[in-house]
Formats: sequence, C-alpha cells, structure tokens
Amino acid sequence: MAEARVAKGKIRHGQRESIRALIPAARIEKRIRAMAKEIRRDFPEERLHLVSVLKGGVFFLTDLARSIPGEVSFDFIAVASYGQNTHSSGQVRLTRDLDSSIEGQTVIVVEDILDTGMTLQYLLRLFQQRKPKHLRVAVLLDKPERRIAAVRADYVGFTIPNEFVVGYGLDYSERYRNLPYVGILKLGSGAKPQK
Ligand code: IMP
Ligand code: MG
Repeated sequence: MAEARVAKGKIRHGQRESIRALIPAARIEKRIRAMAKEIRRDFPEERLHLVSVLKGGVFFLTDLARSIPGEVSFDFIAVASYGQNTHSSGQVRLTRDLDSSIEGQTVIVVEDILDTGMTLQYLLRLFQQRKPKHLRVAVLLDKPERRIAAVRADYVGFTIPNEFVVGYGLDYSERYRNLPYVGILKLGSGAKPQK
C-alpha cells in the first residue's frame, strides 16, 4: 500500500502524523455507485429520504444521492457524544434535528462509519418513534471489532480493521475530512488517535 505522508515533517499538537492510504478514491466511487443501485433495487418505486449525520457523512451522502436514480430527498441531523471516551460513556445527544417529518417516508440513514454503534442505536430509536414507512441504514465504513451496541447496517461500503481512519468526511480534530481517500492515521508518538 502506498505510504502517503501528510504535512510532511510538520509537527501538529506536538505530534508527527502520517496517513497510510487504505481505500483509494476510485474504489470508494465505484462502491458507492454499486450501493446506490442496490438501494434503488430494494425500493424501486419510492421516494428515498436520505438522512445524514453531520459532518462526517456529508460526502458519502452527496455522492450516494447523485448515484441513486429516481426521486431522492435529503435532510441532516447532528449529534454529540458525551465524555472523552465513547467506549465508556456512550451517551449521545441531539444538537441539530431534522427540518421535516419522516412519518410515512422511506428513510435511509447515511453514516460515515459504524464504530461502537452507540450513535446509530440512538438515532434508530429516535427515528423509529417518528413512524417512517421503512428505516434502513447505509454506512460507508464498518468497524465491527469495536461494536458495543447491537446494531447493524443494511448497506455497508467497506468493512475495515480496528484502526483510526480519516478522509472522505472522517476527521481527526476536524482535520483531514477533505482527503478524497480513506487512510489510517498514525501518530508519531505511537499513541492511538481518539475520535
Ligand atoms: P459510534 O457511535 O462509536 O459508532 O461512532 C460513530 C462516530 O464516531 C462516527 O460517525 C465518526 O464521527 C466517529 N468515528 C468512529 N470511528 C472513527 C474513525 O476511525 N475515524 C474518525 N472518526 C471516527
Ligand atoms: Mg467525528
């Protein structure tokens, strides 16, 4: 795999960071086109209402939406996790609600990554109460090793190992979201990056 040094030699927060490419942009694009087809095949007639979680899911949503034929609408929600360590706290709070009702709609939750599953568990409970016609989940990345909550995605782009990844919407302290590919972030100190 190609070793892509980001901000070569730069010290940020006193640590040298490097990124090793994991999923190239072309593979992401191809996979999203296939997922879009699969989703439309499952719901051939209906308007699909895509609901994305800010901010990490934004690129995935815009690429997915443009690849799904037929009628598509979308909306955004934002959440925050309590505590530093999502491992232990796992508390999720809504910071921005949807603009419109999802009652009777075919809703696809579009997430960048499914990690512990706490965020998705919270969202699915919340959305289920609002009586959508169908509720499905599409994630670009799935890190099954870290799962705590009993949730699963209906559409998965890539299953990845237990590594901290950035790019294509995913951040480390709000940085690297704009990388067109997904890469594994390593800190020079050898410490594990925390989300
Ligand atoms: P969960 O609630 O633990 O499933 O975490 C979901 C959220 O944590 C994602 O939407 C991301 O914002 C963030 N996250 C989880 N794993 C990573 C990662 O490897 N890199 C960057 N952000 C991550
Ligand atoms: Mg994040």
